[in-house]
Amino acid sequence: MNEVVNHRYANQFAEFGRGPVSVEPSRSPTWFEDERLAIFNRCWLNVGRLDDVPQPGDYLARTVDVWNTSLLLVHGRDGRVRAFHNVCTHRGNLVANEGKGNCRGFLACPFHGWVFDDTGRLCDVTDAGNFFDLDRSRLGLREIACDVWNGFVFASLDPQQSLTEYLGPLTQRKLTRYPFDQLTTRFTYQADERVNWKVLLDAQQEGYHVPYIHKRTLSLSFPESLTRFRSLLMEVMGSHRLLSTGPSAAPFSPTPTGKVAMKFGPNSLEAFAGGGDATAYAEAMEGVFDFHVIFPNFVIAVLYGTYFTYHMWPIAADRTLWEVNMYYPQPANAGQLFAAEYGKVGLRDGLLEDASTHERTQRGIASGAITHFQFQDEEFACRHGHEAVMAWVGQWRADSSATAG
Ligand code: FES
Ligand SMILES: [Fe+2]
Repeated sequence: MNEVVNHRYANQFAEFGRGPVSVEPSRSPTWFEDERLAIFNRCWLNVGRLDDVPQPGDYLARTVDVWNTSLLLVHGRDGRVRAFHNVCTHRGNLVANEGKGNCRGFLACPFHGWVFDDTGRLCDVTDAGNFFDLDRSRLGLREIACDVWNGFVFASLDPQQSLTEYLGPLTQRKLTRYPFDQLTTRFTYQADERVNWKVLLDAQQEGYHVPYIHKRTLSLSFPESLTRFRSLLMEVMGSHRLLSTGPSAAPFSPTPTGKVAMKFGPNSLEAFAGGGDATAYAEAMEGVFDFHVIFPNFVIAVLYGTYFTYHMWPIAADRTLWEVNMYYPQPANAGQLFAAEYGKVGLRDGLLEDASTHERTQRGIASGAITHFQFQDEEFACRHGHEAVMAWVGQWRADSSATAG
């Protein structure tokens, strides 16, 4: 595995070319606005997991900057999870305070007390008799398309197709057999960074940087990456992609603390190195680290016994909220809790190393000193990501000018 072959992906995915890729979409506010309309308003975005709202009546409200709205997810008493704009139809106040809670089937706006049920219907208006021909049937919460795949809740402002069609070939991959339901302990990190969302994603979707940025951390799991990193495979699935890393060919030397953690449960370095019970995951994984980018801004990265997700939430052309969620089995004893904590801080350290490049890269491309990125073959996922963005924006611009004409 990890055989050293050059230009493998350029040959496999010849239609994406080999040339430099423009930096303009990663720094231009005009591009950012077009991406918002062409991509973020029309794609299915992951907005959480079912266990964010596990019980009937549970809700989650959060700002989605790229939609310029507050999103409300509600688990109805009928078992369905629905998404709404968290915006009262009286005068626009937020109906639910942002965060999680249980509404027992009804949400009352704190401003004047209008009440909506868990299907979004307006069911009570304070002092209704003093209004003028209110049509309550048209004043429910404004619903947003919402669907669930494998426990992941997606929503879309203007879906172009069903969620299953949108995910396409991804729904046929091994990932569907990954035991997400068994990994329910979650740790979350967030970072608000002065970086374009694509620059942030690109720093994650290649292994070329590992021997430099991660020389004291992840390089320990992949000693051979110090010379030439080669991934196990990449797959293109429409606008989505998979980047898989195979087990290290060289022996892995965990730190003394890592050795202790490995006795009790999965931790990041061990899992990256392919430790743990490979047979239990053979049906669910291609390599030891499968990094799925679900276009545009969601990543599901699975390892043996632990997985993590990224959301790159765009705020501006040069600003992104990076949200990282890490999932482990529910610890059954102190040793397993220690292993999970060890894995958590290990991944955090690796991500901080990655983050050291984000704002510096953004400043670099904002300077105008370079006009293009030079992607080598192991950076094919970056190339594919930029091509997918350009294809969505290009199509939208063509459709818009056809409509305008
Ligand atoms: S704004 Fe919600 S009740 Fe008035
Ligand atoms: Fe990294």
